Amino acid sequence: MSAKFTPFENTGKHQKNKMDETNVALFQPFSINSLTLKNRVVVPPMCTYSAEDGLADEFHVNHYGSLGRGGAGLVIVEATAVSPEGRISPSCLGIWNDSQAAQMAKVASAIKAGGAVPGIQLGHAGRKANANEPWNGDDHISEDNERAWQTIAPSSIPFGAHLARVPKEMSQEDILRVQNDFKMAAQRARDAGFEWLELHFAHGYLAQSFFSIHSNHRTDSYGGDFAGRTRFIIETVEAVRSVWPKEFPLTIRFGVLEYDDRDEETLNESIALTNILKEKGLDLLNVSVGFTIPGTSVPWGAGFLADIAKRMKAETSVAIASAWGLGDPELANRVVEEGCMDLAMIGRAYLANPHYTYEIARTLKIDHPSWVLPTPYAHWLERYK
Ligand SMILES: Cc1cc2nc3c(=O)[nH]c(=O)nc-3n(C[C@H](O)[C@H](O)[C@H](O)COP(=O)(O)O)c2cc1C
Repeated sequence: MSAKFTPFENTGKHQKNKMDETNVALFQPFSINSLTLKNRVVVPPMCTYSAEDGLADEFHVNHYGSLGRGGAGLVIVEATAVSPEGRISPSCLGIWNDSQAAQMAKVASAIKAGGAVPGIQLGHAGRKANANEPWNGDDHISEDNERAWQTIAPSSIPFGAHLARVPKEMSQEDILRVQNDFKMAAQRARDAGFEWLELHFAHGYLAQSFFSIHSNHRTDSYGGDFAGRTRFIIETVEAVRSVWPKEFPLTIRFGVLEYDDRDEETLNESIALTNILKEKGLDLLNVSVGFTIPGTSVPWGAGFLADIAKRMKAETSVAIASAWGLGDPELANRVVEEGCMDLAMIGRAYLANPHYTYEIARTLKIDHPSWVLPTPYAHWLERYK
């Protein structure tokens, strides 16, 4: 990557456009639709399990405001449910009503004021919904508990392991309702000020479980062959694109393989699906793992998805992002430089240090605090270097 770093118009009140030039790939701006991210570092969605009735509160505004100030080009708010039964846990965020949207507007505004583009992930957890928070067991809430609700899925097949509840098989009316929930949620997210939309179609949640042969045994037009198993996803993208502004990216997070014994077939189907979605208005694919069945052999390790992302980039016509084990700055830079992905997503390192972008920059020999941090921080770091 040889393009020079060019100054950008920063929306953060405190941040100066005091840019020199660098060839470091991770710090090149990234333009998509009418949006420009100031660099290629993204904080991916990470659930905080800290909401009541799906409502964001001071914790969320502070948490995301701090990540917004931390120097990443884009901060994506955690999985936010499009309907009450779509929450992973009772403490997850939601955006199925106007009160929730009003609170989320404060979150979007806090991210933007810090200088990052505000993104949101919208999701429906399907048969993995209604779990206890991770620190309360991570398992399904028992059906006789007052916090329990009926889970839904393409087929009445449980995930298994710690999520063993049997979901209700969705009727075609249920499918239409959930697709409309996604559309309404996207509209609310747009009106709340978000500029980047990621649909959570990964990790064994509802959309991924329509795609997977492990969880979709339907015999109607939403199951069976490739066309049937991708129909829910394609129609949902179409519904959301009809309300999501053209100038802002519409993206999905999708598990392009499972690490079961069907990976080549799943990858080829994922490539075909992505190219269909491109025609329907998809702008970027966030490459992830299916996590549709327990007990697969995911090769956890630094950057283990980078080669898969590279293949998706070569064989599809959309921009590519990915995460998982990219916290090492040299590695994050390398996967962008080598064209595996356009954007590198770094999660847990930002839970340890919300200003982690500054650490990344310093490791990559860019010791310009003002490139990544707001002036009230950067000034002092520059002055006493
Ligand atoms: C606490 C926590 C919550 C997460 N919540 C979400 C989520 O809401 N949506 C999602 O797609 N991925 C979620 N993830 C996965 C992250 O987006 C990311 O892929 C993962 O942390 C790997 O990146 P890392 O190795 O840099 O941490 C979560 C991960 C963590 C650690």
